[in-house]
Amino acid sequence: MESHEQDGYARQQAQTQLQEGVSVQPLSSPPSANEAPVEAHMGSFDPSRTLNAEAGLSIDVKNTNFYYGSKQALFDVTLPIRDRQVTALIGPSGCGKSTFLRTLNRMNDLIPGTRVEGQAQFDGINIFDKKTDVVLLRQRIGMVFQRPNPFPKSIFENVAYGLRIQGRSAKDIKERVEISLRGAALWEEVKDRLNASALGLSGGQQQRLCIARAIAVEPEVLLMDEPASALDPIATLKIEELITELVKDYTIVIVTHNMQQASRVSHFTGFFLSGKLIETAPTATLFEHPQRKETEDYISGRFG
Ligand SMILES: Nc1ncnc2c1ncn2[C@@H]1O[C@H](COP(=O)(O)OP(=O)(O)O)[C@@H](O)[C@H]1O
Ligand SMILES: [Mg+2]
Repeated sequence: MESHEQDGYARQQAQTQLQEGVSVQPLSSPPSANEAPVEAHMGSFDPSRTLNAEAGLSIDVKNTNFYYGSKQALFDVTLPIRDRQVTALIGPSGCGKSTFLRTLNRMNDLIPGTRVEGQAQFDGINIFDKKTDVVLLRQRIGMVFQRPNPFPKSIFENVAYGLRIQGRSAKDIKERVEISLRGAALWEEVKDRLNASALGLSGGQQQRLCIARAIAVEPEVLLMDEPASALDPIATLKIEELITELVKDYTIVIVTHNMQQASRVSHFTGFFLSGKLIETAPTATLFEHPQRKETEDYISGRFG
């Protein structure tokens, strides 16, 4: 069954992530992993140059509450997510960033006892509506997790996975695999070993492979939950550069605990605290002229 299998794919991705703990920093990751190359590539991309404050809405989230059983994790969150712009979500650990991100492609459905209220309008549908086809939704709103989670298959088959489920022809699959690997800035590194196991790739390459897998099925939105936090500075830089390329074609929502990263890659930033969206603004505005005291305290390092 086609839809069942596709759902299995999303489920497998989600479960890998949930088992590994969505908000746990891997031990192998040095605390400064994301901090190093700030000046080194600030010049290569300045999101304020491609900021489009008037961009249409890709997803319009309104008055969203979320519950794990009786524990409320999101409170009345309203956030416009603009088309082909990068929206960064920042805030201290446990403030609800990942929970919010997962509501956008209904990944939280996989956690028993959860409940969402509110609206997230996306191309005429409410994402939260029980009638929404989550299989189709997850094709249109893809997700990349904190820890690279390639399948124990070849590089080629990882990218081909969703395409095979869609029943695409062999020729089409071959083409899309190459386009996706190029799109994820990985093609040159793997074109001579497409049949080698994906597990032999470095962490940074595995994460770009996961991005290639996500874009292979041509989504409109990419959700990224701390996609570089398990990577070294060079691999982090590659992911950040990739994000700045991908946003030409995709709407991107990225969770990051790293404020420099938010400044480097995002057009808009939302600051979460204790399940509430405290403030959202174009990134430079939020960092330079925060309107709320909580935001100012956080970005000046007074807590979190
Ligand atoms: N699967 C879960 N079951 C119950 N509570 C959860 C689950 N995942 C997260 N939470 C809780 O929801 C809150 C928000 O968590 P999370 O969205 O992971 O925050 P962040 O990504 O900002 O670190 C925290 O209090 C966390 O403990
Ligand atoms: Mg998280």
